Amino acid sequence: MLLITICVGSSCSLRGTDELASELFRLIEKEKLEGLVDIVGAFCMDACSKGVSVRVGDRQFSGIRPQQAEEFFYKEIFGNVKNILVPKKPD
Ligand code: FES
Repeated sequence: MLLITICVGSSCSLRGTDELASELFRLIEKEKLEGLVDIVGAFCMDACSKGVSVRVGDRQFSGIRPQQAEEFFYKEIFGNVKNILVPKKPD
């Protein structure tokens, strides 16, 4: 399971947490990743200055805008699900 944590703190909420989460849920459903990716909320991640803060696994991003949801999803989530769930075999 790849866990996506979206900040629901007040600053991020004002910058579009709900819209970003809705779009990510839509893309997860579109790509049939239900059960492989989950989205949860978290309070302030101490990176409030630009846009919504998001953690994908143990990697944290900040300044994500709802309009960037699709680009963010395909770059940071979709392509990594397989690698995260199926670790490479040692040579
Ligand atoms: S409110 Fe989201 S990082 Fe602070």
